[in-house]
Amino acid sequence: MGTSQQSPSTASPIGRDTLRIDGPRKVTGVAKYSSDLQFPGMLYAVPVEATIANGKLLTLDTAAAEKMPGVRAVLHRGNVGKIFRSTQAPGFDRVCLERRPPFEDDTIRYWGQYIALAVADTFEAAKAAADAVRATYSKEKPNVERHLEAEDDPDVILTAYSPMERLQSHRGDAAAALDNAAVKLDETYVTPAETHNPLELHSTVSLWDGPTLMLYDSTQGVVNLRSVLAQMFGLNKENVRVISKFLGSGFGGKLYPWTHVPLAAAAARQLGKPVKLVVSRKMMFQTVGHRARTQQRVRLGASREGKLVSLQHDYVYHMSMLDPYHEDCGEATPFHYSVPNLRVTFGRAKRNIGATADMRGPGAVPGLYATESAMNEMAERLKIDPVQFRILNEPKLDESLNLPFSSRHYVECLNLGAEKFGWSKRNATVGAMKRDGLILGWGMAGAAWIAGTFASEANIQLRDDGTVRIACATQDIGTGTYTILAQLASEKTGVPVDKVEVELGDSALPDGPISGGSLATSSVIPAVFKAADQAIASLLITAVTTPGSPFLGKQPDDLALEGGRVFIKADGVKRGIAFEEVLRRANARLVAGSGSGEQTVFAPNAKFSKHSYGCHFVEVTWQPETARLRVSRVVSVMDAGRIVNPLAGRNQIQGAVVMGIGMALFEETTYDPQNGAPINSNLADYMMTVNADAPPIDVHFLDYPDKEINELGARGIGEIGLAGIAAAITSAVHHATGVHVRELPVRIEDLIA
Ligand code: MOS
Repeated sequence: MGTSQQSPSTASPIGRDTLRIDGPRKVTGVAKYSSDLQFPGMLYAVPVEATIANGKLLTLDTAAAEKMPGVRAVLHRGNVGKIFRSTQAPGFDRVCLERRPPFEDDTIRYWGQYIALAVADTFEAAKAAADAVRATYSKEKPNVERHLEAEDDPDVILTAYSPMERLQSHRGDAAAALDNAAVKLDETYVTPAETHNPLELHSTVSLWDGPTLMLYDSTQGVVNLRSVLAQMFGLNKENVRVISKFLGSGFGGKLYPWTHVPLAAAAARQLGKPVKLVVSRKMMFQTVGHRARTQQRVRLGASREGKLVSLQHDYVYHMSMLDPYHEDCGEATPFHYSVPNLRVTFGRAKRNIGATADMRGPGAVPGLYATESAMNEMAERLKIDPVQFRILNEPKLDESLNLPFSSRHYVECLNLGAEKFGWSKRNATVGAMKRDGLILGWGMAGAAWIAGTFASEANIQLRDDGTVRIACATQDIGTGTYTILAQLASEKTGVPVDKVEVELGDSALPDGPISGGSLATSSVIPAVFKAADQAIASLLITAVTTPGSPFLGKQPDDLALEGGRVFIKADGVKRGIAFEEVLRRANARLVAGSGSGEQTVFAPNAKFSKHSYGCHFVEVTWQPETARLRVSRVVSVMDAGRIVNPLAGRNQIQGAVVMGIGMALFEETTYDPQNGAPINSNLADYMMTVNADAPPIDVHFLDYPDKEINELGARGIGEIGLAGIAAAITSAVHHATGVHVRELPVRIEDLIA
């Protein structure tokens, strides 16, 4: 199902536009998402949501609900049964961003917290029963204050992933250097709470098969979900199996389990039936994570010639009352530009809201909005072109770690982007550029994102029907992982992509990485390649040991596999035979190999600073008469290592740019100051970019392999496209309107002073 024109046996599938192998299953409706699944006797669960954001649950009256037709149970703290707490482990195992198990206590800490669960024969009956449950509370005023002041936290904080020093990075003396700088900037940038709104709602179907808990779940991490749920139900890992075959995206909201998952499992345990629970769109704004609101003060000092002398980045983000998710806005700040004096610090502000979580480009995306906006404003004060200002401050190495970059071509990104966009024609004067009666605004900004690998395993089979099977317990969240795995298996075996069967999304398969950090592709490459090498070695041993084989008596080293054919190296591939023929002669259904790769991302003692880079150039049109602002054109250039599938890669960057237009102009989750409820908790009131808002997006990849990452040199592309885009847009908005908007999203009222 690839798009290849050339014979697949002679050309590598890597770096070629390849259509998604799961596409036909999706468009014909054959692909089953978790919420599509049906099991005999399956029941439906609907949670009851707290209608306060701060206080205590006093009474719960379930009597009327329990008597309603079709209702099997109403579960609550008194009858749900034991649900243990999952615990944090080093690394990326057992991650859970809301640790308190559902119904563990009667304290309500955010609006929509689950207080009961109605289970019935139909969804409608369960919903009616959930609505009929009555609760009383003792209420306190919720804190959903928008202005953020850092709590009095210790210097080192244990976050959801690892301990973090609040003085995140420092070198030189940033304060003194700023005092003495010729040109200064001191501005605060604000990004709002944002809610993940993938098309597919969170959904889970739980059933108990004897001692084994089966979970069909819309998760970005089957392996992690298995570990967390095993702990929560006191089970051995081998007695939990998680299946996630198709997802309608996740954007980070589905990386780790939320409280509805153990609730469905507890209901299935109690009632002895499969239980389906689909989180409603409204609940998606309450109980399954969101991107934290951030307030970031950036101070820059520069010489008149445009050399940065000081950079201070002090940020505060909001968090829920209990859950220490760290919104790492300072991730890219310490290395992105050369500056001798630097200080990055953070603080946290607790609020009566659901847990904050990873959302596409967590940390770096809001962080780079602030620092790249500051770079643009500083360039303006210096009267230096913003592209040139960045080039002037290009670092030779990662100055925070004192390490070389594994592969950094940021300046080339900037130059190529400027060329493709036509940046040299920019007239920097505000409002000076016009086309068709519209004022044009041009802006740009840089991007960066983490690179490396998570631990992964894989298993590969070469089979006697000429097919290959590749198995790995990672997931395809819609980004193209099925296809990437097929391309990788094809690359190593020479078997065309359409003869590769990909098995993923099942925790019974060899452990695979979360679909997170844009690291799935880079993480599976070492495992798949090692697995393939082992399977091929097994095949060659078979070839030289099978009676009647033309290779009998040769050494395995004398042979090779290429284009799906086994041959004697000295004779050439043309005189070889199809690998399936070797297997058939040996009466072997298959040969198999397993491989694994280590976690390198966030690993201590790294020898290189590993990141991806990029930039966006943006044009907006502005019609002051009607206050109409449109993004009309975007050029994005990405230095993300070797691009395994440029078609899927461009899709990723384009999708991220579309999301970035939403970040800049539309998206914000607002909380009611009276009761703490997310007000716009639906797709009518939570504004997002729609098709009509999406301009032409011209994506370019530099395609330099980064050999410090993996054998192919592939980094990741899911998230970097969202980095920097909002700063490029607000810069273009300033160029068109003369208004510096420093609090996202840009609103019409900001522009019509
Ligand atoms: Mo991404 S926020 O790591 O799914």
